[in-house]
Amino acid sequence: MREFAVDRTHDHADDRAHYTATAIVLHWTMAVLILGTLCLGWYMADLPLTPTRVRLFNYHKWVGITILSLTAARLWWRLFHKPPPLPDDLPPWQQRAARAVHWLLYFFFFAVPLAGWAFTSAAGFPVVYLGLIPLPDWVPVDKLLAEQLATLHAWFAYALAAVAALHIAAAVKHAVDERPAGYLRRMFSFRP
Ligand code: HEM
Repeated sequence: MREFAVDRTHDHADDRAHYTATAIVLHWTMAVLILGTLCLGWYMADLPLTPTRVRLFNYHKWVGITILSLTAARLWWRLFHKPPPLPDDLPPWQQRAARAVHWLLYFFFFAVPLAGWAFTSAAGFPVVYLGLIPLPDWVPVDKLLAEQLATLHAWFAYALAAVAALHIAAAVKHAVDERPAGYLRRMFSFRP
């Protein structure tokens, strides 16, 4: 049972700290694309070899390459735009955990699509982005290497899903629990 009441009218300094519109749009675009790509990856991997499977594999690769490009853009943007500080009454271990989770997410946003691209190169199926732009193969065609990279891609994807689940659980907990209501709102609202 809760032992104290939360003052939700409390004017907390962090409630007024907001992300920029660019950061918010990039965050939610990537969240939708990554969730969709994870689900599509798991769905398509066990499909029988039909034209539908080939089409879905292509969509998966195109969205994956889009995520890779957006990650590069987002990291570049992030280098020049410091995010608003975490609430200062968040315990230090939670601040450290939040930062570690954010950097782990960036790592997997690169590692998962790069492993997928390397896998498909090693398997001898080059990526033609959107059916228009042939991307270079940066791994030699090698059956054994392809199998290892497919496994790596799948494990990285599981790890990404686990870290993203942690991130979402922490955000939801803070939204419904002891944090001032503005904590989650700053990732939705464009207000400066
Ligand atoms: C953030 C981006 C990506 C995510 C979250 C993701 C996720 C996944 C997942 C969950 C699977 C199913 C793994 C399994 O259980 O076997 C999968 C399979 C696959 N992915 Fe990705 N993927 C991404 C990017 C890419 C990219 C960029 C490519 C290639 C250019 C790619 C190529 C493939 C292929 C070919 C498979 C099928 C593997 C097999 O046949 O076993 N993926 N992906």
